[in-house]
Amino acid sequence: TIGNSTNIAWHKCSVEKIDRQELLQQKGCVIWITGLSGSGKSTLACALSRGLHSMGKLTYILDGDNVRHGLNRDLGFKPEDRAENIRRMGEVARLFADAGVICIASLISPYKKDRDACRALLPEGEFIEVCALEGLSIWLRKVVFMDVPLQVYVKQGTLKACISLHELEKLKCSKHNVDELEIKFMVTSSQFKVFSCLAGFTGIDDPYEAPLNSEIVLQQKGEVCASPSEMAETVIAYLKEKG
Ligand code: PPS
Repeated sequence: TIGNSTNIAWHKCSVEKIDRQELLQQKGCVIWITGLSGSGKSTLACALSRGLHSMGKLTYILDGDNVRHGLNRDLGFKPEDRAENIRRMGEVARLFADAGVICIASLISPYKKDRDACRALLPEGEFIEVCALEGLSIWLRKVVFMDVPLQVYVKQGTLKACISLHELEKLKCSKHNVDELEIKFMVTSSQFKVFSCLAGFTGIDDPYEAPLNSEIVLQQKGEVCASPSEMAETVIAYLKEKG
């Protein structure tokens, strides 16, 4: 029995992973970037894709934000939704790796159990976990003072701010029934995001279980912070070393 179904068979084809890899002249694998919102996962994924692409390697990015626009649009941020999000992304990433592609998954993936389940889908050495720690976001994030200056503070790397209803309306947020809402906001080099006050934000009131045994940990060393392309180089060096 598979899931809720019986009588399902596995069909094998004579064109196999090894044939596709030979055609592409590369090995398929999954590079799984995990980290807090705003830690620079997507920027790193993009820099990595760019670097590998310029070396003639076929990559594809699965970005949490992007996939939630389509395949995972039915999922929210409750623990069971996040688990299903990660399960699906692990399966899709596995398909890409099986196709011979270097799949770069960029998701908060806050729960260890879910990340480990994705790792278990792939052969040894083909799941490379990259933990994006705060160092990246320090490099990327600039605080922008819009006219929302009340009670801004930093907690576990995500900026939180209180904002009046009037100000919220200016920002076109949809909650009109309260006088004051807490919003979480942050700025990266390329985008500005505003989150309405939803319970369960990773790193604020929903846990992020930091990995203990990632293949690669990217973090700031002292005051000096590596750029996204330098971070990507670190990952590429690892891939080269492992063949
Ligand atoms: S998860 O936890 O792995 O299922 O999340 P993911 O699919 O990577 O989506 C993370 C992006 O969703 C936005 N967002 C939130 N993140 C965390 N908690 C809550 N409650 C939430 N609501 C919306 C946020 O933009 C994340 O994008 P990144 O790029 O990580 O900042």
